[in-house]
Amino acid sequence: MDKKIDQIKEEIKCFHIKTYNDLEIFRIKFLGKKKGSLTILFKELKKIPIQKRKTYGKIINELKKEVKNKINIFYSKNEIPNNKGLQFDPTIPGKSIETGSRHPLSIIKNRIIDLFMKIGFTYVDGPEIEDDWHNFTALNIPIFHPSRDMQDTFFLCKNPDVLLRTHTSSVQIRYMKKHSPPFRVLSIGKVYRNETISSRSNFMFHQAEGFYIDRKVSFSDLKQTIHYLINSLFGDAKIRFRPSYFPFTEPSAEVDIYCDSEWLEIMGCGMIDPQVLKNVNIDSEIYSGFAFGLGIERLSLIIYRMKDIRIYFDNDIRFLKQFKSEF
Ligand code: DAH
Repeated sequence: MDKKIDQIKEEIKCFHIKTYNDLEIFRIKFLGKKKGSLTILFKELKKIPIQKRKTYGKIINELKKEVKNKINIFYSKNEIPNNKGLQFDPTIPGKSIETGSRHPLSIIKNRIIDLFMKIGFTYVDGPEIEDDWHNFTALNIPIFHPSRDMQDTFFLCKNPDVLLRTHTSSVQIRYMKKHSPPFRVLSIGKVYRNETISSRSNFMFHQAEGFYIDRKVSFSDLKQTIHYLINSLFGDAKIRFRPSYFPFTEPSAEVDIYCDSEWLEIMGCGMIDPQVLKNVNIDSEIYSGFAFGLGIERLSLIIYRMKDIRIYFDNDIRFLKQFKSEF
C-alpha cells in the first residue's frame, strides 16, 4: 500500500496538464470510475485491517484533493469553466436547426384569411364538437335530411345529440346568436364526415365559411365577393354559378371553376334563408345576407395541381418541405 501511494503521489506531481485533452486524461487516470488509480486504492481500503484503515483513508483523500487542486488550477488559468474537462473548439461548426415549412393546407387557409381581411371580414373560430341545433336544426336542415344520416355524421352521443360538426356553417349560427348585424365573418376549420377515404374524400377535411349580413345585401354582392376570391387565387380563371339547393340558403348556387378542360365544383353559396335569420332572432325584413362554404383540400388540389387528397395527411417530409410561402 505504501509503495503504491508513493508512486501515485509522484505521478500526480509529475503530470503536466497543458490542454483540455491532458486534463481529461489526468482526471481519468486517477479518478476514473473504474480504473482510476485512486479509485482502486479506495476500493482496496476495505481489505485493510480496521486500525490502519483510517490512516490510509486520510492519505488517499489527501491525494484526491491534490488531483482536484491541479484540475482547478488548470481551469483558473484557462478561464473556461468546464467541469467535464472537454476541450472547447470554437472552430467546430454549430449544429444547424432545420427550418420547417408550412403545411400546404395552412398556406391556402392563410391566403384566404388574408384576402378576406382586406375586405373587412372578421376571422372567428368555432368548436369542432357541436350539438344538433347549431349543426342542423338552426340551419334549417330538417330531421329527415340525408346529411343527418348516421352514415354521414360522427355522433359522439345521442339524446341530446352531440356530434363532430359536418360543416363550418354551424359557425354562422354561433356568431349570429351573439352579434347583431351588420357583420362580415370568415371561419376556417376541420369538419368530419363518415366517408370512405379515397383520392377525393376523407373522414376529415377543412372548410372555409364566409357570411355577410347587412341591410340590402344582394346576390350581386355575393357574386362580386366570389369573383374577388377566385381571381385573387387563380388569376383570370373562368367560373360559373350553377343553381343548387342548400337548406340554409335561398336561392342557392354552386360555383365551378374551369380547369384542365373540365368544370370542377369548388364551393356552395347563396342568400341566407330568412328562416335561418329568424332562428337566431335577426329581423329578415331589415337584414339580408349571403353565405358561402368551400373545401380547402379541393381548392388546394387545383392550386397545386395534385390528384390525391391523401398526400396532405401522409406527413411525408419530402412532400411537405416543397412548400415555401409568405403565408
Ligand atoms: N355547408 C355546405 C356543405 O358543407 C357548404 C355551404 C354551401 C356553405 C352553401 C354555405 C353555403 O355557407 O351558403 O356542403
